[in-house]
Amino acid sequence: MLRIFEALLETDPEIFEAIVADIERQNLYLNLIASENYTSPAVLAALANPMQNKYAEGYPNRRYYGGCDFVDIAERLAIERAKQLFNADHANVQPHAGVQANMAVYLACLEHGDVILSPALAHGGHLSHGAPVTASGKFYRVVQYGVNKETETIDFDQVRQLAREHKPKLIICGYSAYSRVVEFDKFREIADEVGALLLADIAHIAGLVAAGAHPSPVPYCDFVTTTTHKTLRGPRGALILCKSEWAQSIDKAVFPGSQGGPFMHVIAAKAVCFKEAMSEEFRQDQFQTVANARALAEELRRQGFRIVSGGTDNHLMLVDLRPFNPNLTGADAEKLLQRAHIIVNKNAIPFDERPPMKASGIRIGTPACTTRKMKEEEMKLIGRWIAKVLHDPSDETIVQLRNEVVELCQQFPIYADLWETMKSLREEVTVKSS
Ligand SMILES: Cc1ncc(COP(=O)(O)O)c(C=O)c1O
Repeated sequence: MLRIFEALLETDPEIFEAIVADIERQNLYLNLIASENYTSPAVLAALANPMQNKYAEGYPNRRYYGGCDFVDIAERLAIERAKQLFNADHANVQPHAGVQANMAVYLACLEHGDVILSPALAHGGHLSHGAPVTASGKFYRVVQYGVNKETETIDFDQVRQLAREHKPKLIICGYSAYSRVVEFDKFREIADEVGALLLADIAHIAGLVAAGAHPSPVPYCDFVTTTTHKTLRGPRGALILCKSEWAQSIDKAVFPGSQGGPFMHVIAAKAVCFKEAMSEEFRQDQFQTVANARALAEELRRQGFRIVSGGTDNHLMLVDLRPFNPNLTGADAEKLLQRAHIIVNKNAIPFDERPPMKASGIRIGTPACTTRKMKEEEMKLIGRWIAKVLHDPSDETIVQLRNEVVELCQQFPIYADLWETMKSLREEVTVKSS
């Protein structure tokens, strides 16, 4: 590793500096972005490996290029581990990202113009579930469901009614901003009633599912897609799981259907991630992630915020800012908190009257803090800090809180060895050249 960074420093000191600065940022800020995490040094090492040089279009034993013996080992391990981790019939580990995984499923099972019934973006869905600005919205006819206005949980009456009315070929369940257990069995029932296929997009909750901290969609769904870099804590990328009968169609839809050469170094890193996800430490961390989210939600509620749907069962919560301060937008809260080194994102709440770029809420997640080994005590502290900044965003309060946040971050360091190594390399070079 040391040599790699020496080479980088020598070749491109500007990029080297940017990386050191970002490791410092990752260390000294509290990351509450629900979709982010800190991947392990083992995953990082696999990402920085020369398999990235290999063209390997096709699948293990069925490649369009010679010289694939060793990348085949990596891809076979990734496939076998993914199947074992999620108890699935078939796994495709090649999708470059979550959007590509979803597009590959659509390509495998839909014709142009077919109907998709999916969650609305404003109620927790994702762009790739058929938003008009995306390929999924342009190629298919999209009907969307939301949450019930009273309970703010999935409105199954609406899902059933829309399914009966529009007879979708595919129903999607899976969300970017939904804090309750997803009842995959209820979706299956509706899909069966109208003869639809069922896709669960578990990009956010895959780590929880792997650890048993959230029910698995695998027994109920024809397809399951997930990113590998959120709660699953692996490299950036994605994974498709499906029933055996869809295996061939899914593989064809990924390559040659929608992608070219697979990123073999990333696939090696996915294999490492899946191995780590089978460990007891990972399992405990996922349950702790949920416990931390509950503790943080409870503290925020005590401080006068409203938690959408009344709480959380997973790694995230949507915080309605209006009861705390009706004039405070999500955009303002995001900016103020960032000044105190607390990173969240503005997020529309269901039935939000503000436009999405302002929003009335923020989304908060606990995967990254939990990877740093923070627990309920730290969550309560963070909840109080959030309230303090948003209650009194004076320079004095922000500076004082920023110091406290940095102090807490220093007690839970991340990539400490890497950071030290890179800083001492830089010093050596400075000393040599002066
Ligand atoms: C539910 C869901 N699906 C898909 C994606 C897309 O993943 P990617 O950014 O890797 O394309 C996301 C990303 O946030 C997501 O939350």
